[in-house]
Amino acid sequence: MDILLKGGRVVDPASGTDTTADILIKGGKIAQAGREIKAAGAKQVDCKGRIVLPGLIDVHTHFRQPGREDEETFVTGSRAALKGGFTSVLCMANTNPVIDNKGLVEYVYAEADKAGLINIYTAAAVTKGLEGKELTEIGQMAAAGARALSDDGKPVMNAEILRRAMEYAKMFGLPVISHCEDANLSKNGVMNEGALSTRLGLKGIPRASETVMVIRDIEIAQLTGAKLHIAHVSAKESIEALRQAKNRKVKVTCETCPHYFTLTEEAVLGYNTGAKVNPPLRTKEDVEAVKKGLSDGTIDVISTDHAPHSAEEKDVEFDFASTGMIGLEFAASLVNSELVKGGVLGWKEVAQKMSVNPAALLGLKGKGSLSEGSDADVTVFDPGAEWTVEAARIESKSKNTPLIGKKLSGLAVITIVGGKIRYENGKFA
Ligand code: DOR
Repeated sequence: MDILLKGGRVVDPASGTDTTADILIKGGKIAQAGREIKAAGAKQVDCKGRIVLPGLIDVHTHFRQPGREDEETFVTGSRAALKGGFTSVLCMANTNPVIDNKGLVEYVYAEADKAGLINIYTAAAVTKGLEGKELTEIGQMAAAGARALSDDGKPVMNAEILRRAMEYAKMFGLPVISHCEDANLSKNGVMNEGALSTRLGLKGIPRASETVMVIRDIEIAQLTGAKLHIAHVSAKESIEALRQAKNRKVKVTCETCPHYFTLTEEAVLGYNTGAKVNPPLRTKEDVEAVKKGLSDGTIDVISTDHAPHSAEEKDVEFDFASTGMIGLEFAASLVNSELVKGGVLGWKEVAQKMSVNPAALLGLKGKGSLSEGSDADVTVFDPGAEWTVEAARIESKSKNTPLIGKKLSGLAVITIVGGKIRYENGKFA
């Protein structure tokens, strides 16, 4: 059925649009965008007071399939994505088994197809088993549809291996998404290193653990000319290094996640494992640096690093708890609360960082835009909605978030994928 989105604030950086307009969707594509569109027979959706965005794209998601279907699957993860306004995601390769060969890339696309709710893409591992030792068959995995290369969850400690990976990645036109952590500096660390980690008696991870690898990877990107994307940036010094690299015209992009601009290390007080994440939550100064990086364009992408973990893996001593928090259902609301209301970003910049730039990074043609002829992936967001995070209402199979009980402002109300309304006002189609 055709859909007519009426009278929303349409924000489409690709066409330079930020105005009240209608959008007509036909046959899975954007058929028309403009004022007072008439479409007899189309389902009319009143979007007054709402923001209409090109479908949000998360370049950093963990759906845990294969291997930990008790924590998330393509179906449950897709539902969480839809509820959060995401129409496409890139799954990371750190599943069990690791997505490190062509057959497993094909498996992801076959299962994603069966789930059939959102657009699911996968990254493929840089090294076999994420062990950092032996390169994967990059060409074969690219041919099977891998959209990026990443050992996310682990750093590639051997710079020579990373160099070779980047050389292959360049040949096949793939970005390398780097999890920047010096494993020697971060060894046994469980939170940010500083006065608070000392007070809590927990082993810290210094910011330098991230920054030295950001700087190393920038150098290797420059050496190889490959496309480098730095995952989940958290530290002030890393952002400064990226700013300088961009000034030097190195081909590097980067992302941060909502927890790095909304929370500080104080969130782990009381040994709250819900706030244990890698890289760790940092200080107020870092949060400010992340915001500055977002506003001045140093940080290109806002991703979620949606990392579901079972209660068994979180309800243990802080040292033993798994790292990560779920993010898909809260990201857009946190962006609205902290960045838009906080005057850090406008909606155009939000669309840029949550749809346009992610589509460009992953080479997703037809996505990241509401222009005529684009794929009809659309997110309708109500900036005025107020809601409270409740565990019972989380769609993700895992409930690991430090946000339970928190009030958030703004909510994705309609999520359209390929011209179909998949989620509308709390209900799935
Ligand atoms: O906190 C994290 N969790 N950071 C990562 O890099 C990996 C992720 C996971 O897979 O749980």
